[in-house]
Amino acid sequence: MCGIVGYIGPKQAQEILLEGLSKLEYRGYDSAGLAVYNGETIGVQKSKGRLSELEARLKSRSLPGNLGIGHTRWATHGKPSDENSHPHVDQEQRFAVVHNGIIENYLELKEELQAKGRVFTSETDTEVIAHLLADLWDGDLVSTVQKVVARLEGAYALGIISEHEPDKMVAVRLASPLIVGVGEGENFIASDIPAILKHTRDIYVVEDGEMAVITREGVQLMKTDGTPVQRDTLHVDWDVVTAEKGGYDHFMLKEIYEQPKAIRDTMAGRIKDGQVDLSREIGMSEDQINNIERIHIVACGTAYHAGLVGKYVIEDLVRIPVETDIASEYRYRNPIITPNTLVVVISQSGETADTLAALREAKKAGARVLAITNVVGSSVAREADDVIITWAGPEIAVASTKAYTSQLIAIYLLGAYFARIRGTRAESELADIVTALQQLPEKADQVLGNTTAIQQFAQEIARHEDLFFLGRGLDYAVALEGSLKLKEITYIHSEAYAAGELKHGTLALIEEGVPVISLATQEAIYDKMVSNIIEVKARGAHVLGLALEGDQELHKSVDQVFTIPKTLPLLTPVLAVIPLQLIAYYACVARGYDVDKPRNLAKSVTVE
Ligand code: M6R
Repeated sequence: MCGIVGYIGPKQAQEILLEGLSKLEYRGYDSAGLAVYNGETIGVQKSKGRLSELEARLKSRSLPGNLGIGHTRWATHGKPSDENSHPHVDQEQRFAVVHNGIIENYLELKEELQAKGRVFTSETDTEVIAHLLADLWDGDLVSTVQKVVARLEGAYALGIISEHEPDKMVAVRLASPLIVGVGEGENFIASDIPAILKHTRDIYVVEDGEMAVITREGVQLMKTDGTPVQRDTLHVDWDVVTAEKGGYDHFMLKEIYEQPKAIRDTMAGRIKDGQVDLSREIGMSEDQINNIERIHIVACGTAYHAGLVGKYVIEDLVRIPVETDIASEYRYRNPIITPNTLVVVISQSGETADTLAALREAKKAGARVLAITNVVGSSVAREADDVIITWAGPEIAVASTKAYTSQLIAIYLLGAYFARIRGTRAESELADIVTALQQLPEKADQVLGNTTAIQQFAQEIARHEDLFFLGRGLDYAVALEGSLKLKEITYIHSEAYAAGELKHGTLALIEEGVPVISLATQEAIYDKMVSNIIEVKARGAHVLGLALEGDQELHKSVDQVFTIPKTLPLLTPVLAVIPLQLIAYYACVARGYDVDKPRNLAKSVTVE
């Protein structure tokens, strides 16, 4: 995830910025850079790769000065490269900007600025901000920044310096974290607390729609329309390790709570005028999309489970036959790939060996390959024909959570986009799907806001060695993911079953006290599911039912019910998986295991 740090004061900015960026390395990044005002001009040094590569460049050409901004980039728009690294500057290098987030309307702004003769040197969305600053410059930095942000759509935390007013630094926030650190005769900005903890523990948290004007002597907070904001500083007493996790005990929990943002970001810029538009991501013509005869979804682990949801979603919305397969099976099974087969590979890291090999097999057989991945510039992203990036930001915990939900979002977008082009769903139905998608972040927040019952249940199951998940249809796909989460970090043996299969063998394993998590969120097959629940309950199982808000029935057949907000049945997996992630997390904590680094597992499986 991108990181921002900025400094104004009596000391050399370069060292403070580098040191601050090093404290953000844990978040993952692919390039880094600094811009420092040297008394006359703004000097910029940036580099693809690790911070050490930037440091090496700074050894041969350092950036002296007491005002500067720095950035670690996690690529979203444009591959990792020197040119795409931040800070970005305008043509005359009078303004420098660092940015976290996504500018959704950057293409139209870019075209407008190019038409005025502004020359762009990167593929990023951020560069438009630097050129806009120059274009709208009115002789006052604060009012120019206000004019610029009025033109931006999307999410941003910005750090801006200008040669015109080198006595200040301006920071702006909309839907991306930003803080101001208050020192003595010096002040700081940062996207995350660890970056400035060495220098100060007194901070202002900048809220959405606010900006901060920072000089050596003070900090002025205001709304982006100029209305002053009064706020007390906050004293942070976290140690560095707690600060890295944003105050959460583990990265996994932090990432679970980042899901509303990851969902929102993955939709950003891909819904226009109430319709899904993936024409930027998918270079297929309407004819090519209309000609697709079958889709193979190929992935491993959690990404495979997202692919199982993908089968339901795409078959339902687009009426194309979809097969979802495990990459290590697909690559060796000689699958039937016709010229009109689209192969969709899903991979958080974009480096999983089996997924990459499956991608290569598919290409060799003549298929067009579309990748859904979280890492711009990864092997999968580079080798696929089309790429949908999930903007979940780096996932640090081995157990995948926010990557899964953002993969689901990418799948819904893909399904809705193809359905529009192929005319398999009415415009009004697609509009309903878009509306429901846009409500998901808020609903995910609601699930995360009420976890007491989940924590209690997790305490209870932590004592057991076997557990079952049951579901039908999409609930079954989610059950598989819930079961994987539990196995991975709690080492409890668990199995997910399609509830209708119980009678064909598994029911023999149900005995007094065995915990069973039963998902009953799909209205169309609700009654069937309840019958299966009654079957396990009759054999003494201890059942937690997962149902939709307003459910009046399930409590009659289970020991405990946990509800999630209502959404369209097709979208329910995004919300249903969250309680299961939390059950795994709290059960792991209760058992005292290492949450973020489970035994025998690696975050990225780059060998077969
Ligand atoms: O990076 P990928 O999405 O290709 O990784 C695939 C699996 O290794 C991964 O999802 C794994 O199953 C997770 N650790 C599960 O939480």
